[in-house]
Amino acid sequence: MTTNDVAERVFNFSAGPAVMPLSVLQQVQRDLLSLPGCGASIMEISHRSKQFDAIHLDAQQRLRALLSIPDNYKILFLQGGSRLQFSMVPMNLLRGTGLTADYILTGSWGSNALKEAVKEGQTRKLWDGKATNYDRLPAEGELQVNPGAAYVHITSNETIEGVQFVTEPDTGDVPLVCDSSSDFLCRPVPVSRYGMIYACAQKNAGPSGLTVVIIREDLLERSRDELPGYLNYRVHAENDSMWNTPCTIGIYVFGLITRWLQEEIGGLAKMKQLNEEKAKLLYEVLDASPGFYQGHARPDCRSLMNVTFRLPNPDLEKAFLSEASKRRLDGLKGHRSVGGIRASIYNAMPMEGVTGLRDFMVEFRDRNAGK
Ligand SMILES: Cc1ncc(COP(=O)(O)O)c(C=O)c1O
Repeated sequence: MTTNDVAERVFNFSAGPAVMPLSVLQQVQRDLLSLPGCGASIMEISHRSKQFDAIHLDAQQRLRALLSIPDNYKILFLQGGSRLQFSMVPMNLLRGTGLTADYILTGSWGSNALKEAVKEGQTRKLWDGKATNYDRLPAEGELQVNPGAAYVHITSNETIEGVQFVTEPDTGDVPLVCDSSSDFLCRPVPVSRYGMIYACAQKNAGPSGLTVVIIREDLLERSRDELPGYLNYRVHAENDSMWNTPCTIGIYVFGLITRWLQEEIGGLAKMKQLNEEKAKLLYEVLDASPGFYQGHARPDCRSLMNVTFRLPNPDLEKAFLSEASKRRLDGLKGHRSVGGIRASIYNAMPMEGVTGLRDFMVEFRDRNAGK
């Protein structure tokens, strides 16, 4: 990457695909024509070559170390994005069991997950935050988990509304299944409290086209032989994610990102601390601007990853976006379904980007308040 390419880069607040660590992009660029010692590009080598084997194993080991994943969990590298997981989860864990799956809806993505699950078996809305426009999480005591449920599904971070679980709900012995697409690797997570965690890579973990699944081994027994091979978790686990050709470049980049987290950031506890510092800078502006910036999420449910807010009227929102983009603060438009502003400040968003946005927000408010 030339100095000019780097200078041209904007601060990318897009919700995903999203900002990646510069050092990772530079490494990809350096090695794109020929992986060191290999003589061919990562896009040209066989997924069954010893070079790719080493990349695949390294990515798995780094993820296992970062999240302290216990030995009785398998790591799968799949395709089809998290939307395919919305179907694969109930196909594998619900279909044919005669049980009911419980869904906790804290926003748009959880609702989308449930829409797919109803096609596969009995489901129940265990909790739905729709009445307050998904601005909060269930409080303790609001969840009556059915001890005989097939699983409980949550979305740890709702990317569109900007609400994030602080800790996982207690589901007793019922497997907790988590869509962690937009907060994967943003902080340490006690994996043993989950039956399964899945995440598309294109926010915190790499390019689109790769989906990471972490699944407890005993749950693989629920996958029935009648399922199409690709849709069967057990088939993927038995073949170490190589039943078909996996997203090789995605796994390679994922490996570089996990290395960046370990070696440049210093692990997930440190990542969490940095994420909290970044988010605080923006939420402080919302809190100091009543009547101007209106945050969507209630303060105790605020996301570290997606900061969502509105301005007093659509004209001001338009002006905000246009002026921000002139300052190289890009991708701030809220999701098309809810409008407003959304600043996605994933792991790789540098502090400089967040302070730049914070300063712009203060200045824009001071210039426009009361207009
Ligand atoms: C929380 C969450 N779940 C699921 C998805 C869907 O992911 P994909 O587009 O990879 O299917 C997204 C995408 O933005 C998301 O943010």
